[in-house]
Amino acid sequence: MAETFPPSPFAAPIEQVKAEALTCPKCRLAQTRTNVVWADGNLDSELLFIGEAPGHHEDKQGIPFVGAAGQLLDKLLAEIGLDRTKAAIVNVIKCRPPGNRDPQQDEIDACRPYLEAQLAHMKPTVIVTLGNFATRFILEQQIGITRARGRKYQIWGATVIPTFHPAAALRGGSFGGISTMDALRQDMAMVKEVLDEAAAAPIPEPDPAEPESFDQLGLF
Ligand code: URA
Repeated sequence: MAETFPPSPFAAPIEQVKAEALTCPKCRLAQTRTNVVWADGNLDSELLFIGEAPGHHEDKQGIPFVGAAGQLLDKLLAEIGLDRTKAAIVNVIKCRPPGNRDPQQDEIDACRPYLEAQLAHMKPTVIVTLGNFATRFILEQQIGITRARGRKYQIWGATVIPTFHPAAALRGGSFGGISTMDALRQDMAMVKEVLDEAAAAPIPEPDPAEPESFDQLGLF
């Protein structure tokens, strides 16, 4: 896995990529969506949550995680002292699948460049993948969330923390003696720990062998 995030598939800045996404015709979901759901929160923060796909409320409002799962996500954020100004929230696919069915592979593939552009823009310190689809997208493995969660992964210089989708926690249930809700809370505690460690880490000194910018190179 590369040490840094792969470059954006778009040459344009992120606001232009967003404008393009908002009229995207690239898959069948363009026929049934009300709104393209681009992102919420702060795309210049260090923390990125990736969900699966917009649901009914998100499609109507054009904002990710505004339904019941979103309210739980806000509560979990508040419990670690954060809110949507301190994190970005996006989905693997930006348009609602009819009837909230699972995203299909060709829809994920068509939407992939938008999430890649968001990742390349943010270069987040921490990526939290919510559920199977986001986890498989980022880990590039057909792994289930129950097996993937509970540990950290280093990818592109970011710490990836896979956890349950908040909708799964709302449905209840448990595995291996722990409830899905408690597992989510444990994973959120890990998010806080990693962010706190990153904030406490010394800022690396610039490498004197590296020129500061291309402009400077032009001086000689
Ligand atoms: N579930 C998701 O995965 N994303 C949303 O935006 C809402 C619900």
